[in-house]
Amino acid sequence: MCGIIGATSSRSVGKILIKGLHLMEYRGYDSAGVALHQKDQIVRLRALGKVAELESLMIEHKPKAKSGIAHTRWATHGQPSKQNAHPHDSHEEIFIVHNGIIENHSELKKQLTDAGYTMKSETDSELIAHLIHFHKQTTQDSLKALMNATQDLRGAYAIAMIDASVKGSIFAARHKSPLLVGQGIEENFVASDPLSIINITEQFFLLEDDEFAHITKHDINIFDANGHSVDRKETVIDATATATSKGNYKHYMEKEIYEQPEAVANTIDGRLLEMDVADNIFGIDSSKAFADIKRIQFVACGTSLHAAKVARSWFERICETPCYVDFASEYRYRNPLVENNTLFVCISQSGETADTLAALEYAKQKEYLGTVTICNVPTSTMARESDWKIFTNAGPEIGVASTKAFTTQLAALLMLAVAIAKSQNKNTELRQQAVQDLRNTPALIQEAFELLEDINYITKNISEKENSLFLGRGMYFPIAQEGALKLKEISYIHAEAYPAGELKHGPLALVDEDIPVVAVAPEDSLVEKLLSNLEEVKARGGTLYVFGNNRSTIEIKKGKFINMPECGDFNAPIIYTIPLQILAYEVACLRGTDLDQPRNLAKSVTVE
Ligand code: M6R
Repeated sequence: MCGIIGATSSRSVGKILIKGLHLMEYRGYDSAGVALHQKDQIVRLRALGKVAELESLMIEHKPKAKSGIAHTRWATHGQPSKQNAHPHDSHEEIFIVHNGIIENHSELKKQLTDAGYTMKSETDSELIAHLIHFHKQTTQDSLKALMNATQDLRGAYAIAMIDASVKGSIFAARHKSPLLVGQGIEENFVASDPLSIINITEQFFLLEDDEFAHITKHDINIFDANGHSVDRKETVIDATATATSKGNYKHYMEKEIYEQPEAVANTIDGRLLEMDVADNIFGIDSSKAFADIKRIQFVACGTSLHAAKVARSWFERICETPCYVDFASEYRYRNPLVENNTLFVCISQSGETADTLAALEYAKQKEYLGTVTICNVPTSTMARESDWKIFTNAGPEIGVASTKAFTTQLAALLMLAVAIAKSQNKNTELRQQAVQDLRNTPALIQEAFELLEDINYITKNISEKENSLFLGRGMYFPIAQEGALKLKEISYIHAEAYPAGELKHGPLALVDEDIPVVAVAPEDSLVEKLLSNLEEVKARGGTLYVFGNNRSTIEIKKGKFINMPECGDFNAPIIYTIPLQILAYEVACLRGTDLDQPRNLAKSVTVE
């Protein structure tokens, strides 16, 4: 999704900005642009498509500037085009880049048009430049004009702005969309994603909602909504923890799949005792507070939602606690009734997903016992806004398709289930078993990688199809959903997941000789029932690809049985995910899609 970077320095900033945009490419975008303060005017270059196109324009025009702002845009209002790309300007004086959505854009556009402003794009963002210009006419002060303009905005925004009359300055504002300031030597930066400048600085000042910043190459000043100066503590983000090279892998997704043994090892590292989880691994006093939990409400989106759905079974079994799982985008619109002693848990790789963040904010106004965030980015808004948290420590996930984020979320969720049961003195044996399974997980993931040859036996067939079905039962239904999501998002093959028992209630009509049916069939209490459901597929001539273990009784004439490593009860969902990720990856490679940045998708979805 959109990315902002701004730099003011004693050296030329063109290359810094382009490099920063390249480092944010993983977020997904459709156009890119830059505005540079050159002599007494601002030069703007914009390109549709990849950052490389913008880079070519920079090489052609060779702008020389020591301050500027740049942006990658992911279209929300107005189609991807050069005209709609940021930066947007007003009177070639005020230039802005914006992440987020302005909800009252129609109303504001009308007011501005009535006041004589002309809109040159179809975006909601352009009006911000005009609004600042409008306020500047009365205040004559760029920062005040920005502050006054934001009072008129409804929605979400991270804004970076430059003003042709204030050379070397960058102004910034944040409301419900991430933005931070980076501190260098004789240079300072604003960015929506620390990865864009992590190769230049490790020292950051995180902006809170409704704060503003004014930076020059020597100074960083942060202000609250009333214009009072804020004394912000510096946050150090370790560059080594955010290494972003692909190494010898062809794609980030491939690298991230094969990093999973280490990623899960990092999630559990230092958090397990011999037979239990350590106390307070979710933060100060969490163990004490967890003793009172009677129910759990999960919210998340996409892959993170699948993690919640898998984990529900663990919470019901290990903590004997009822769990509700909601799409973050739906949760706050259904007026949820909160029973006493309910814990609110949000799960998010990025910790910035707008729907999940909005759900968390809504939950904080309700009578929850407390809020927990499970996420991969310690500096994220969700992490800051929750009472308790655990970081998955998976390292940066760059591929749009979540892989290691998912398996590490599952590991963290299993630790949460054990932590709650421990606080409530419940199910000691199950807790021990869960902890043992967590310890064995990295090695089992490694074993699952050995299935590559078997998986490649089926990838060609699947890559030639346009539709597929994924089946599972119990906690393996969300694993089937995750497998289907992976396949559809990176290969563009239509993939639908069903609990296998539902097949006969409709989807069986889709089964013929042509459709591949992938089944997740580990040995659990439901496997016999699942195998009967698969007989229904066989009877209709369907091609079956079944992931199970060597005690499985299914005979497959058309398709393939893939023998999975022997897993524990608690780590099997994690291990059965691995071949589905590899399957999706290999199929997408055969189809030649842009699988690290699939069409229409963004890594971090910061708009509602
Ligand atoms: O950062 P989050 O985990 O909150 O992101 C939520 C979804 O957008 C994300 O899981 C998405 O579904 C995956 N990238 C799909 O692989």
